[in-house]
Amino acid sequence: MALPQRVIVTGAAQGIGRAVALHVASPGVHLAVWDVKRDGVEETAKLCHEKGAAARAWTVDVGDADAIEAAVSAFERASGARIPMGRIGRPEDIAAVVAFLLSDDAGYMTGQSVAANGGAIMVP
Ligand SMILES: NC(=O)c1ccc[n+]([C@@H]2O[C@H](COP(=O)([O-])OP(=O)(O)OC[C@H]3O[C@@H](n4cnc5c(N)ncnc54)[C@H](O)[C@@H]3O)[C@@H](O)[C@H]2O)c1
Repeated sequence: MALPQRVIVTGAAQGIGRAVALHVASPGVHLAVWDVKRDGVEETAKLCHEKGAAARAWTVDVGDADAIEAAVSAFERASGARIPMGRIGRPEDIAAVVAFLLSDDAGYMTGQSVAANGGAIMVP
């Protein structure tokens, strides 16, 4: 299975989050590991780096929307990623697409994959 090249793992200082980070850590993968526990998440980043990933630790509280926005933007800059729409997606962005697909306006659509990603798929 091909892994995404840019991955953010939350709660990554220990437990499941650290295990997920270490599982995806490999050469060519840009990995951001987030947690409120600075020491633990820095250790996770170090272990991921040893597996060949470009890994970086961030002290982020996932209950803080502004902190998430800032950390995602910083990760995009650090990993060379870019979202053409200039912001991360909001739950409402996805809900609107789902509502459209459920509506009569989409009544003649079958078996489509719809990308609601701010245009990120257009980035080479
Ligand atoms: N371990 C299991 O068997 C198991 C089973 C089912 C569900 N879960 C759930 O999966 C999740 C992870 O499990 P775990 O065993 O790895 O837990 P854990 O407590 O070992 O690790 C959770 C990590 O999340 C971090 N964290 C907590 N709040 C945070 C916040 N606001 N922002 C950023 N980081 C935060 C903690 O600092 C910690 O490093 C938990 O919600 C747990 O309830 C675990």
